[in-house]
Amino acid sequence: MQTRVAILTSGGDAPGMNAAIRAAARTGIARELEMFGVRHGYSGLIAGDFLRLGAREVGGIIDRGGTMLGTSRCPPFLTDEGQQTAVRQLAERAISGLIVIGGNGSQHGSLAMSERGVAVVGIASTIDNDLAGSEVTLGATTALDVALEAISRLRVTASAHGRVFLVEVMGRTCGYLALMAGIAGGAEAIVIPEAEQSPEEVATAIQEAYQRGKSHAIVVVAEGARHNADALARHFTEHAERLNFELRVTKLGHVQRGGSPGAFDRLSATLLGATAVERLCAGEHGILLGLAGTRVVTSTLREAVRAVKPLEPQWLHLAHVLSR
Ligand code: ADP
Ligand code: F6P
Repeated sequence: MQTRVAILTSGGDAPGMNAAIRAAARTGIARELEMFGVRHGYSGLIAGDFLRLGAREVGGIIDRGGTMLGTSRCPPFLTDEGQQTAVRQLAERAISGLIVIGGNGSQHGSLAMSERGVAVVGIASTIDNDLAGSEVTLGATTALDVALEAISRLRVTASAHGRVFLVEVMGRTCGYLALMAGIAGGAEAIVIPEAEQSPEEVATAIQEAYQRGKSHAIVVVAEGARHNADALARHFTEHAERLNFELRVTKLGHVQRGGSPGAFDRLSATLLGATAVERLCAGEHGILLGLAGTRVVTSTLREAVRAVKPLEPQWLHLAHVLSR
């Protein structure tokens, strides 16, 4: 039975992390647990940077992007020494349960802690949506909305000038955000790591769009594609005379991470945060909580971090058909 539980957020911040912290803290308090936050992810765990979370400490954050606890990329946690220190910091405070809200790398960390005897429950949260064990991860739908808002604005100016816009979106090595933003944003071409295209293939798609009567083109490019926005722009500039289209490049970058969580992310985060505490209380750990539709689904941390999450073939097919 857990009596003291700590919550940490790790890796890239994602809209909805705060809502999950709030729900976990208040569910724990309702169950008369002592709830703690760890500042700055695994860095704070190693440094022993804890704070007590009461109901008021987690007030006013449900609509805020980012994470009130702070987050980090923490190379020292990859070492034996770092992980031993993290385990010791929890033991010294008699904290026996840990909730880790984060993406793929962070859940590798959860697995490492779980294998060292800590009762860990992970919550799948990253804008990249690259974590098996959750159809969609916390933060991804809000990031997608931010990208769509930007694409709509870019289409206005692209159309006014008859230009081609390369819009690069985040996602690390995963093309989910680019694929979905491309489909929902009505892109003329989508470039993702899972279905690489050469710059000439992209140029052909743009030229064919113009031949079909389009006056401008939006190409959504995943940052992780081999031919990302810089590579494509280089090629198009080198062959500008032959290709004959006017090009502009916009990299959306971190702006995609900072949005206020939308309804789906707030509600999902609330459900996942509360469920994480319930599961710890029921003696379940070594697990990752994710979503299938609006339902919470559970996988072991080992399964979740080892599996590669594929993109749904139907979306890849639709992207091709609808770009016409
Ligand atoms: P995300 O969780 O968003 O994918 P990262 O990949 O940067 O972000 O991971 C966040 C942190 O998780 C890393 O800085 C590191 O401290 C920890 N981590 C990543 N991979 C591992 C691993 N294989 N084993 C243990 N900890 C890891
Ligand atoms: O994992 C989330 C993410 O935003 C990726 O899409 C991106 O590649 C990376 O984090 C950027 O990392 P940082 O914030 O450390 O620059």
